[in-house]
Amino acid sequence: MEKEKKAGRYARVLEQLETLLLKSNNTVSDMATIAALLHHKMDDFFWTGFYLLHDGQLQVGPYQGSLACIDLKKDTGVCWAGVNRRETVVVPDVHAFPGHIACDGRSNAEIVVPLFGKTGEVFAVLDVDSTRKNAFDEVDAVWLGKIVSLVQQPQ
Ligand code: SME
Repeated sequence: MEKEKKAGRYARVLEQLETLLLKSNNTVSDMATIAALLHHKMDDFFWTGFYLLHDGQLQVGPYQGSLACIDLKKDTGVCWAGVNRRETVVVPDVHAFPGHIACDGRSNAEIVVPLFGKTGEVFAVLDVDSTRKNAFDEVDAVWLGKIVSLVQQPQ
């Protein structure tokens, strides 16, 4: 999708989510709502969901798309890179990313956005996969960063 058109689409999704999430008071509901809306509104989103950190493990949370890996091998792959680097990771071609974990062989590009708690710790990541190489860029990084900041921390 052309960058301006994509930014416009994200702006409308963000606005809609701001309204929807006023009615939610829990993390999983926030994540489920975000995953569903993004997955169905954005082009090229083949798998859209969250992984949450629990006792040093990165475990799957709410998602849309094909069946995902439940637990991601520690310090391996794109999601763990997002946790360990504490920043958004854009991967134009997952086959060129060392240690990439392929839950579905049809994925070719990926973006991972960390979620930070009040004390600055990463408590989850948003992960989006696409079948299209080079699907994600800085427009996705900026807008998905705004969107995940709507998720409230687990109690
Ligand atoms: N590709 C991810 C694993 C999660 S799936 O894409 C849903 C990774 O390398 O961490």
